[in-house]
Amino acid sequence: MKRRETAKHGDVKSKKFWDDQAKAYDAIHDEFAKTLGGKVDEQMSWEILKENLPEDKSAKILDAGGGTGRWTLPLVKIGYQVTLSDISSGLLRVAKEKLSKQGLFDRVELREVNITNLPFADDSFDFVLCWGGPLSCGDSERAASELVRVLRKGGRILIDAINRYYAALHRFEDDPSIAVKMVKSEFNGSPWGRVFGLEEFREMFEGRGIRVLAIYGRSSPDGLGVLDLLPKEIREAKEWSNETFSQLMNLMRYLNKDPSFIGIAGSLLLVGEKI
Ligand SMILES: C[S@@+](CC[C@H](N)C(=O)[O-])C[C@H]1O[C@@H](n2cnc3c(N)ncnc32)[C@H](O)[C@@H]1O
Repeated sequence: MKRRETAKHGDVKSKKFWDDQAKAYDAIHDEFAKTLGGKVDEQMSWEILKENLPEDKSAKILDAGGGTGRWTLPLVKIGYQVTLSDISSGLLRVAKEKLSKQGLFDRVELREVNITNLPFADDSFDFVLCWGGPLSCGDSERAASELVRVLRKGGRILIDAINRYYAALHRFEDDPSIAVKMVKSEFNGSPWGRVFGLEEFREMFEGRGIRVLAIYGRSSPDGLGVLDLLPKEIREAKEWSNETFSQLMNLMRYLNKDPSFIGIAGSLLLVGEKI
């Protein structure tokens, strides 16, 4: 099947697409987290997030493109106040239901907004989180500028993006010529939106006054990235021992900072500080 070369920066998903995902979104992620690979991936992400959070629990956190609040919820549970913004009213409704059920709704401000045009003042957040690819959904350049604009000086941003090389290999079956263009940086589209090479991702934020503290390799939007290399019966196991879990976490703690791993990871996770 040939995929159309739709746009220079990729197939941008609409608000309707995300609204239609509302019912299934959490179930897909919950299912994934029941496997060993999925659990390790989730735990690694949480570890990186916790390491970078402000010490002060009264800090203002923006979860941009935060959808159903998969990351907002645990942040609120450990005592932070969060502004959860997203373009999809459907996903925000799911977030509201979950927060209300757990008596946490008063700790979150929900805002239905486009990431490319944030209605927040300059320097108004101490911490900005943007995970799961919202940067790729639309005008990435404007989205990056907006996210940096609303972050205060000295505040941290944790943001991810689809890795160009991983996406190219996945697109090969569909359209080999597009895959070749992608690795040569002549085409940036993917089913998940704009893709990024390691250096272009770094430059996007350094060029906007962010000191890049680290870039990690992480899972892909529809799989585990490098964890896909594990034997299927291990990565898809539904039961595992504590020992296996902790050894796999140790392996990933090492690998996700290694340049050769990051180069082929499913997505790239940037940790930066505004200067
Ligand atoms: C894969 S989901 C990730 C959601 C959440 N951050 C997570 O990790 O579970 C991508 C999110 O980006 C949101 N999104 C897409 N385009 C957007 C835009 N232009 N402005 C704001 N949010 C957008 C979608 O509605 C969706 O919630």
